[in-house]
Amino acid sequence: MTRRIYFDNSATTFVLPEVAEAMQPYLTEFYGNPSSVHSFGQKARAAVEDARRKLALSIGADPSEIVFLSGGTEANNLAIRGIAQAQADKGRHIITCQFEHPAVLNTCAALEKQGWRVTYLPVYKDGLVRVEDLLEAITDETVLITIMHANNEVGTVQCIEEIGKVVREIRLQRRNIFFHSDAVQTFGKLPINVKQLGVDLLSISGHKIHAPKGIGALFVRKGVRLVTQSTGGHQERDRRAGTENVPGIVALARAAELAVANLDAFAHIRYLRDYLEDEISRLIPDVLLNGHRERRLPNISNITFKHVDGEGLLISLDLKGIAVSTGAACSSGSTEQSHVLAAMGLDKELIRGSLRFSFSRFNTLDEVNYLIQVLPEIVERLRKLSPRWSHAR
Ligand SMILES: Cc1ncc(COP(=O)(O)O)c(C=O)c1O
Repeated sequence: MTRRIYFDNSATTFVLPEVAEAMQPYLTEFYGNPSSVHSFGQKARAAVEDARRKLALSIGADPSEIVFLSGGTEANNLAIRGIAQAQADKGRHIITCQFEHPAVLNTCAALEKQGWRVTYLPVYKDGLVRVEDLLEAITDETVLITIMHANNEVGTVQCIEEIGKVVREIRLQRRNIFFHSDAVQTFGKLPINVKQLGVDLLSISGHKIHAPKGIGALFVRKGVRLVTQSTGGHQERDRRAGTENVPGIVALARAAELAVANLDAFAHIRYLRDYLEDEISRLIPDVLLNGHRERRLPNISNITFKHVDGEGLLISLDLKGIAVSTGAACSSGSTEQSHVLAAMGLDKELIRGSLRFSFSRFNTLDEVNYLIQVLPEIVERLRKLSPRWSHAR
């Protein structure tokens, strides 16, 4: 029987039984609308507010600073468009970096078309933004800095605290500059305290931490004014219209509680990740480990196998029951080259041969050993078929 091993946890995760159990009553029994006055509604309202308290606690925020919405993409949209529009008369300059998630990059590109100016900071070979570049890019027109906490393809962790300090210092002179961070990949994997990080806005997504897809949250620091991106009812203090996803909200809070309680498990994941990298480097020639070696998430490994087609590798591993991903995003049927690895200076050939392995706290050493057992043979077979390999020999 083929084994089924999942090393694509940065794409999404399974829903934990404890999380499914927590949300279940809100699907079938306590299905009231939180805005309704009757007891059905009040039961749902109490669950939403309890979840808000729990989620706020997990990031050191006040419950009033949490906006529930549909996920990381919507959180990034609300943060960026919401601040840009609220500050449009003060300045129209945004700073981000070259390898953000498309939910940030495409939102910034849309604003550029509407007259905003956007600076895309470089990330260099190690996948890290430099504070010096940021300082140089800030002008009197800058109203928003949006830099992801960790990158989803290579896992490098940015110096969010330092950027937070820069923003706070500027704010001593002028009040209209804000700092947003997309923490979709770090929440539940690294300890997060919004005050310590110095962020004004922070995006979170449920399905990366064993809650269902379609639920997320945006932290909005008290006093930060946003223009809502959805008009309708007055839910979420007028910041996000629409009947709340009560089961999803309950699930997100439960998954967050469990993730934070199990942060120690990431020592085990780091061990698995490092073991995998060491073994691959030992057993397979011509590989590159991408991204800074220390400043990165414990659960992501991005590796280039020279002279191999990553798609072919992915499919061969899938046939062995192992799920991984290439950096490439599939859009409208065509594969695009990873903009993340391109921003880090890898050429097209190297990008083509790159794979991402991403772990959850439920992966085991036995699973990694199975991968190590099958991978060298697959790489060798694909290389033998590749004219680029024989050419390089
Ligand atoms: C860094 C990052 N930001 C945002 C998102 C989008 O989150 P969601 O799928 O919840 O919209 C993802 C998901 O892939 C991500 O990895």
